[in-house]
Amino acid sequence: MKPTPLRLLAWLTLCLIVHVQALSQPAVTAIHVIPDAGAPVINKHLYGHFAEHLGHCIYGGFYVGEGSVIPNTEGVRNDIIAALRELNIPNLRWPGGCFADTYHWKDGIGPKADRPTLVNTWWGGVTEDNSFGTHDFLNLCEQLGAEPYISGNVGSGEVQELADWVQYTNFEGTSPMSDLRRANGREAPWAVKFWGIGNEAWGCGGNMRPEYYADIYRKYVTFMSNSGVEGGLYKIASGASDADYNWTEVLMKNIPHRMLQGVALHHYSIIDWNAKSSATGFSEADYFKTMKQSWLMDELIDKHLAIMDKYDPQGKVDLVVDEWGGWYDVEPGTNPGFLFQQNTMRDAMIAGLILNIFNNHAKRVKMANLAQTVNVLQAVILTDQERLLLTPTYHVMHMYRGHQDAQLLPVALTSPDYELDGQRLPALSVSASRDASGKVRISLVNIDARKTHPVEIDLGNLGLKVLQGRILSSARLQDHNTFEQPEKLKPATFNAFTFRQGVFRAELPPFSVVVVESD
Ligand code: AHR
Repeated sequence: MKPTPLRLLAWLTLCLIVHVQALSQPAVTAIHVIPDAGAPVINKHLYGHFAEHLGHCIYGGFYVGEGSVIPNTEGVRNDIIAALRELNIPNLRWPGGCFADTYHWKDGIGPKADRPTLVNTWWGGVTEDNSFGTHDFLNLCEQLGAEPYISGNVGSGEVQELADWVQYTNFEGTSPMSDLRRANGREAPWAVKFWGIGNEAWGCGGNMRPEYYADIYRKYVTFMSNSGVEGGLYKIASGASDADYNWTEVLMKNIPHRMLQGVALHHYSIIDWNAKSSATGFSEADYFKTMKQSWLMDELIDKHLAIMDKYDPQGKVDLVVDEWGGWYDVEPGTNPGFLFQQNTMRDAMIAGLILNIFNNHAKRVKMANLAQTVNVLQAVILTDQERLLLTPTYHVMHMYRGHQDAQLLPVALTSPDYELDGQRLPALSVSASRDASGKVRISLVNIDARKTHPVEIDLGNLGLKVLQGRILSSARLQDHNTFEQPEKLKPATFNAFTFRQGVFRAELPPFSVVVVESD
């Protein structure tokens, strides 16, 4: 056919259309799985939780008392136990938080009617009756199949008090504290392994300097007996807030490493302490800032680990992120000291992204605790009297639970950007693992509020036959479950992918979490 000027023009127009279309389609992101036989196991304790005497986390959340009309076992709600068992929660941190350094455990044992009251000075100034104490917590952990992680009081407590607590929970033979435990109805010790030596010692735990805290730490752990626990106690030093690298440096330098199993780090995805944003009525700009704070976890972990590695090149001391999560304004009309907030797709994005960050740092980060389990901050469960709902964060943790104790499959990708008002963040986050049965799991998060991002993963060398997927997504970032509509958001089957000749191809919708796993 002879090229006339008209045909040439039509051809050029067609080329231009194709070109413009190609430019407006996000490029496919290639994700590479890097075979590494020496890759670490993702410690199940990265999926830990945190329950403080704060607002309605314990009282009115977990614990309703034996006389309640809400079905319970020894006062703990059966529906909460059932929901958390589904998550396979590996450990539960208690009793705080800031509360821990005001808590005197001996007030929470023995006949409930005889227990003294306590004013919760950090959280709402409410009076509590100490009806939920050591036995209640440790029995709850047994019901959950979770390991207890107790935060000791070094702020307002005494060395002897913490030493006694360890003897009370762990000593089998005859001793003042184990005899007291038996007198209170518990024969066998609980063998509590995880102990926090205070909490936020730089702030609510005593406003200490790191040098002083390092000495306090050495003194307190000296009197904590290792007996009754296989391998000894796992002691966790109260760690830095966010980018306080000096705190980590001083602790690593001044505490003998034989006395130290973990150093903590706290980082919340909080926009601004003075303007936190509504939990549900937030803008995309607020969302972007929350995502920026969530991605910051990656940098904080790298930088704290670099300091730890300087003093501990063999990596014997672990990093423990024992408080993380989103923190917003409380729900209108609720007690500001109770930190009760709703949970939207923004929280699902925080959870998916941060759990991927933890998985990918599994070599040195061995434990983490979401703040907090029920009715406080980024909760997985909200309750209203007898009603209960599972939040988007719950669903992400459920989708990710198979990563627990699986071997990490390291991945590499160059993420496209999520761009807003000239600012950029990586849009995609990925982690992968293979469990003991050989099942491979890949968790993919697209935090981009507007764009679908196509991805491609060559899984050819893993010998997989069939993949199945689940997705958590919704129409609006602000979407959330309510007591009237508790299942508005829940994971659905994800079919929008192909898996041919070992290559997985999918389109990840805006603000979605996808987990694919092999048969
Ligand atoms: O999780 C709420 C509070 O945040 C904790 O009590 C404290 O450790 C942190 O500042």
